[in-house]
Amino acid sequence: MGVLHVGNNKNISIKSYKGIYTAFFDDQLLEHIADVCDEKCFFIIDSNVAKLFAQNLKAMLDSPNVLLVEATETNKSIENILPIYQTLIDGNIRRDHTLVAIGGGIIQDITCFIASTLLRGLKWRFIPTTLLSQADSCIGSKSSINFGKTKNILGTFNPPNEIFICGKFLDSLETKDILSGIGEMIKVHAIDSARSFDDISGDYDKLVVDRAILTEYIHRSLAIKKRYIEEDEFDRNVRNIFNYGHSFGHAIEAATNFGVPHGIAVTIGMDMANRIAAMRGVLPEAHYKRMHPMLQKNFNTYKATPIPLEPFLAALMKDKKNTLSKLGLIFPTGETASIQRHEVALDQEFKEQCTVFLNEVAL
Ligand SMILES: NC(=O)c1ccc[n+]([C@@H]2O[C@H](COP(=O)([O-])OP(=O)(O)OC[C@H]3O[C@@H](n4cnc5c(N)ncnc54)[C@H](O)[C@@H]3O)[C@@H](O)[C@H]2O)c1
Repeated sequence: MGVLHVGNNKNISIKSYKGIYTAFFDDQLLEHIADVCDEKCFFIIDSNVAKLFAQNLKAMLDSPNVLLVEATETNKSIENILPIYQTLIDGNIRRDHTLVAIGGGIIQDITCFIASTLLRGLKWRFIPTTLLSQADSCIGSKSSINFGKTKNILGTFNPPNEIFICGKFLDSLETKDILSGIGEMIKVHAIDSARSFDDISGDYDKLVVDRAILTEYIHRSLAIKKRYIEEDEFDRNVRNIFNYGHSFGHAIEAATNFGVPHGIAVTIGMDMANRIAAMRGVLPEAHYKRMHPMLQKNFNTYKATPIPLEPFLAALMKDKKNTLSKLGLIFPTGETASIQRHEVALDQEFKEQCTVFLNEVAL
């Protein structure tokens, strides 16, 4: 690997069970991206990114060790990643190879999972190209793979060895993918405090148009997440609250056949958690009302997407945070809206509360 130009002092280092790894911020990365590869690298690249950045990625795309993958939820399933294992095995992958993922959360999850399992563990590097993956998923060690329609049910904890974040990738993202990333950023800020949520809400309109402000919030989001993942990397305790909006969000993704992008489904999921928490007396209604306009603004273009109740509930029941008899849900709680885990029975009352929200959300 060549010497890296690392453009500023915003790099974030994370302590993990594998040692310390760093997310390097480098807005010039595209100009010298070949520096992060050598003949021991095997590239797994989002096929859209390969097209959009063909010039910059030429060295990688010309390498014999490259695989282009279409970033879809269907491809992020155990069934559909088997051909990737086959290609790597046919390409004589060895333990001293490094997998390099270039893409968003889907390419990350696929690469991380393969790096955890192939040859009992390979090094891997990540160049996140979406807002969601730069501001949230790139740190935290998790890989998540779908089993058929059950979202993120297989997985491992395996942080990358290095991460390289370049803002120039964000220029070509579709609006829905910017909003999806903002959804996860809002979540992280809500977890930090009601004040952090209000800060990002106040700057919401600037996030889309002002790159410096967006970069600042990417950095803040990673800094907040770092505190939790260093304390509870394996998600057995405090890190659970990062699932705020996710049980509902994953069920919305499944019930809409993944028609709603992940971070936008999480934004709807947060609004749903707040509304149901308020209906159950767990959260003062004022907090639901305080957060609703911001959340709704972020999912507005998807609010008319039908979310059928039965498939939604069926997916919710499969959530990996559930116990045998109860749903494990994350609700903002009490006067401070602190994010906490609650166990909830999937009874008639809960189903009616879901129905109320799903009817309201489409209005
Ligand atoms: N492992 C984790 O910790 C974690 C955390 C959050 C989400 N996730 C997973 O991440 C996935 C969502 O990832 P995502 O939102 O990063 O996006 P993605 O990987 O789903 O990609 C979204 C779209 O953006 C395109 N794209 C990627 N980079 C681009 C660029 N620079 N310009 C233009 N288009 C580009 C892709 O081809 C795709 O069409 C979900 O499967 C979710 O479950 C994982």
